[in-house]
Amino acid sequence: MAAEGEELSNQRIILKDYVVGFPTEEHMVLTLSTVRSKVPEGSTALIVKNLYLSCDPYMRGRMSRPLHKSYTEAFVPGAVITGYGVAKVVDSGHPDFKAGDLVWGLTGWEEYTLITAPEGLTKIKYTDVPLSYYTGILGMPGCTAYVGFHEISSPKKGETVYVSAASGAVGQLVGQFAKLMGCYVVGSAGSKEKVDLLKNKFGFDDAFNYKEEQDLNAALKRCFADGIDIYFENVGGRMLDAVLLNMRVHGRIAVCGLISQYNLTQQEGIHNLFCVVTKRIRMQGFIFADHKHLYPEFLEFAIQHIREGKIVYVEDVVEGIEKAPSALIGLFAGRNVGKQVVVVARDLSYGTPSDILCLQLVKESLSDPNNYLTNSWNFDNTSEGSICKFYGVDCWHPNENKVLNLRLSNTGLTGNFPAGLENCTSLTGLDLSSNNLSGPIPANISRRIPFVTTLDLSFNNFSGVIPANLSKCVYLNVLNLQHNRLNGQIPVELGLLDRLTQFNVADNMLSGPIPSFQNKFSAASYVNNPGLCGDPLSECTAPAKKSRIGVIVGSAIGGVVLTVLIVGVIMFFFLRRVPIKKKEKDVEENKWAKSIKGPRESRLQCSRLQYRK
Ligand SMILES: NC(=O)c1ccc[n+]([C@@H]2O[C@H](COP(=O)([O-])OP(=O)(O)OC[C@H]3O[C@@H](n4cnc5c(N)ncnc54)[C@H](OP(=O)(O)O)[C@@H]3O)[C@@H](O)[C@H]2O)c1
Repeated sequence: MAAEGEELSNQRIILKDYVVGFPTEEHMVLTLSTVRSKVPEGSTALIVKNLYLSCDPYMRGRMSRPLHKSYTEAFVPGAVITGYGVAKVVDSGHPDFKAGDLVWGLTGWEEYTLITAPEGLTKIKYTDVPLSYYTGILGMPGCTAYVGFHEISSPKKGETVYVSAASGAVGQLVGQFAKLMGCYVVGSAGSKEKVDLLKNKFGFDDAFNYKEEQDLNAALKRCFADGIDIYFENVGGRMLDAVLLNMRVHGRIAVCGLISQYNLTQQEGIHNLFCVVTKRIRMQGFIFADHKHLYPEFLEFAIQHIREGKIVYVEDVVEGIEKAPSALIGLFAGRNVGKQVVVVARDLSYGTPSDILCLQLVKESLSDPNNYLTNSWNFDNTSEGSICKFYGVDCWHPNENKVLNLRLSNTGLTGNFPAGLENCTSLTGLDLSSNNLSGPIPANISRRIPFVTTLDLSFNNFSGVIPANLSKCVYLNVLNLQHNRLNGQIPVELGLLDRLTQFNVADNMLSGPIPSFQNKFSAASYVNNPGLCGDPLSECTAPAKKSRIGVIVGSAIGGVVLTVLIVGVIMFFFLRRVPIKKKEKDVEENKWAKSIKGPRESRLQCSRLQYRK
C-alpha cells in the first residue's frame, strides 16, 4: 500500500564496500534520497526522525564481509548503515507507538528511517536528562557496563578492579560502578587528557596512559601490588597478556570487547593463557543483547545515580550526520573522549511545553518591581533554546533546553511561593533567597519540586510552619530557610533527609527539639530562634506539658497541706478554749475533719488522673 504524507529529503550514510583492515572515511558515503512522512497504510511500521546516532566499536565487525555467522548481521554495501540511536516518532502504524514518542534502539544512519519492526525499540521514559544519554549511559553501553560488572564480574566490596579503554562509553561507567561498590579501581587510557578524566572526574583511584608504558606488566604491578581481582576487558591483545600475569587466584575477567583486534587481518595470539588454569581465573565473554531483560532494572539504578550526582558521564558530541563516518573511525584511533555521539537533529523548540508553562506561571504569580522577569522572560521569542537564556534560568545541558535551576535571588520579587513549579519537571535547584516573598511554604512542596537537590528560601518573609512534607524532597542536599518568620517546631521527619549536607533555619521563630540528622549541623544553623533546643544547642528541658503538671500537682499538694495546717491551727485554739462538754462534740468535728480528708484526697487523685490523660 502506498505511503502518503509529505516527501522529506533524507541524507543517509551508505557503506560503499566491505572493509578490510582499518576503516577510513572513504568506506562510507553521504547520499541524498527522499522518504514519505507517513507509514504505508495498514503497516505496523514507524517513521522516525533521527536525533542522535551512536558510534560503537562493534559496528566495525559489521563492515567486514560476513565469513562466519556472528551475533550481529553484516552491513550491506550500497545500503544505509544501521546502529543505535535516539529518535522521535513522526508517524506510527503500531499500536504501542504514537507520533511524538521518543525512542532509542536500532535505526538508520540517516535523517528519517522507516522502521518495520519497532518492537525492538525502547520508549524513552525519563526526559529530564539529555536525550543523547540514551546512546550511552542510559542505552546499550550503559547497560553493558552494568551487566558486565555486576552480573559477569561478581564483584565484592574491597576488591581490586582494572578497566581498559576506561574513559570510553562503557569504561567510564564500569569504573564508577566499581567505586560505588567500594572497590579499588585503576583504569588505563590512551592520552594524558583521558587519564586526568579518570582520576579527577570519574574518581578512579589510579590511572595510567598505556601508550607511554614500555612494559605493561610493570605498569600493572605498580598499580596492583597484590594483584587484580576483576579485569574488565575492552581491548585484548598485549594488554590481556599483561593482565593475565597480574590476576589474583580466583580472579574474574569480563570480556566485553577486544577493540585492539577489530581491524587486524591476523589477530594477535595470547601467550599467558595458562594463568587461567594456575590462578583458576573465570574468564567470560558476554554481549548486551543477551541481558536486555535487565535494562529496566539498570535504568532505574542509573537514573537515580545521575540525579543524585553519584555518576557522571562524558560525551564527545559532533554535529551533523556528515561527520558520522569520521566520528566512527575515530574510535579506533582513540580520538573520542567519552561516549562518541553524532547529532543529526535536535528536537528543540524554544523549550519543552511543560517548562514553558512552568515559567509562565511563575512569572504570573510573582510581582516583579525591578523588572527582572518582565524584561528577560519573553515568551514571544521562540528561537531555539531561548528559555535557557532567560534571567535566572539554567538548563540541563547546552544541547538540551530543559530547565534545571531557577536562580532568582535578590531580585526584589514579592508574592507567595511561586505557582506552577511542578511543571518544571527537571528542576533540581531553586534559589528564591533575598526577596520579599511571604505566606506559607506549601504543605505539598514535594509534589511541586520533587527532584530538587538545592532549595534556598532564605532572607524572605515566609511564615507558618516548616512543612513535614519537605522530608519527601528526598534528593535535597542543601536546605536554607534562614531569616524568615517560620514558627512551630522543625518537623522531626526532616531527619530522614539523609543527603542533606547544608541546613539552615537560623533567624526564625522556631521552638522545640532539633531533629536528629544524619549529618550534624553547627549551632550557626539554628541561632536566633526563641525556643530551639537539643544538639548542637543546649539540652532540651522536660517538655512544657510535664512542667505544667508539676506546677498543678505541686499547687494541689500545697493547697491541701495549707488547708490542713489552717484547720489544725484553728482547731488547736478552739480546743484550748472549749469546755469539757464540748470535747464530746470534738468527736464529731474529728469525724468531719476525717470526712473532709477523704474527698480532698480523692479530688487530688482525680486531678492526677486527669493530668495523666
Ligand atoms: N559485549 C558487548 O555487548 C559490548 C557492548 C558495547 C561495547 N563493547 C565493547 O566495549 C569496548 C569499549 O566500547 P565503547 O563503546 O566504550 O568504546 P569507547 O571506549 O568509547 O571507544 C573506543 C576506545 O577504545 C580505545 N582503543 C581504540 N583502539 C585501541 C587499541 N588498538 N588498543 C587499545 N585501545 C584502543 C580508544 O581509547 P584509548 O584512547 O584509551 O586508547 C577508544 O577511544 C569495545 O571493545 C566494544 O567492542 C561490548
